[in-house]
Amino acid sequence: MDGCPAGLKLDLDAIQKMVDRRRPGQSPLTTDRKETDRVEILSGILDGVTLGTPIGFIIRNKDQKPADYDALKNIYRPGHADFTWETKYGIRDHRGGGRASARETACRVVGGAIAMQFLKHFGVEVNAWTSTIGPVSLPEDTDLDYDLIYSNDVRTCNLKFAESMSRHILTVREAGDSCGGIVTGMVRNLPAGIGEPVFGKLPALLAKAMMGIHATKGFEMGSGFKSAAMRGSEHNDAPAILDGKPVVSTNHAGGTHGGISNGQDILFKVAFKPVSSIAIPQTALDKDGNAVELKIEGRHDPCVVPRAVPIVESMTALVLADLILMNKLSRI
Ligand SMILES: Cc1cc2nc3c(=O)[nH]c(=O)nc-3n(C[C@H](O)[C@H](O)[C@H](O)COP(=O)(O)O)c2cc1C
Repeated sequence: MDGCPAGLKLDLDAIQKMVDRRRPGQSPLTTDRKETDRVEILSGILDGVTLGTPIGFIIRNKDQKPADYDALKNIYRPGHADFTWETKYGIRDHRGGGRASARETACRVVGGAIAMQFLKHFGVEVNAWTSTIGPVSLPEDTDLDYDLIYSNDVRTCNLKFAESMSRHILTVREAGDSCGGIVTGMVRNLPAGIGEPVFGKLPALLAKAMMGIHATKGFEMGSGFKSAAMRGSEHNDAPAILDGKPVVSTNHAGGTHGGISNGQDILFKVAFKPVSSIAIPQTALDKDGNAVELKIEGRHDPCVVPRAVPIVESMTALVLADLILMNKLSRI
């Protein structure tokens, strides 16, 4: 991780705690792969304080089973990156997906956990939670308790819906299938004025960060795609006077205008597809172009959404930390 200012006192346990939230094998809703995911810091930190030099770290794989992937050596999994990767590079490590495996996101969460601690200095709080699993969604007007997010396996913030969301994942898992869902992200206490106009717009950088996470298929800010059906009179987040003070009670914009934060909460949603590695037999193509029947063995997530929650938080924190630093150059 490069670009972290010197002098940031880090809580190393908090970094590990955040990485643990992404770790596989924690609940019946995720892959059975068991990794300890211990973060070993190699450089850039002395006595818990950042040096301003690149922060190097390593997370060792402990529970890899390359033989599980032998059957996939000459077959392209439908919906996975096998074909595109091999077409681009002419060579592919078939033993687990390589960089197309979300194993890669463990590093993003280390970076995100450091960025979160940087953001704390500015009072900025980042949260994400599961808002949809398959057909089960939190209603728009439901109570949200952010302290509950990591208290339940599905990582939602209203326990009334946690059980039906979990049940759906277990049902598709039992059927050898997979399901998708939506993670909602929220940033509180971000001051107005953060975001670079033109090429570094806050929503544009967030979209890029989110769509760079594996298995994402959609991103929207505020009212997002629903905005297209609204009128300006409905969409404008205009102040109302409450107890003699102006308050803005709607947030259709998602907290930015012109790519710059407006002081409201940043609100966005990220859609995740159902993962492609399913146990149900499917037709796939092999390297010679023959259609073959494929039954994927090995350990896979039936739904990535619960594990994606800390990844979305991490990518959000990284984007905002960069933009807050860049904002220091915006005027004398
Ligand atoms: C947390 C997480 C866990 C994932 N686990 C799996 C998995 O177990 N099996 C699988 O086929 N894909 C899994 N994926 C999705 C693949 O990495 C992804 O579909 C693949 O790289 C192809 O990229 P694309 O779906 O973004 O096009 C996971 C994604 C995330 C974010």
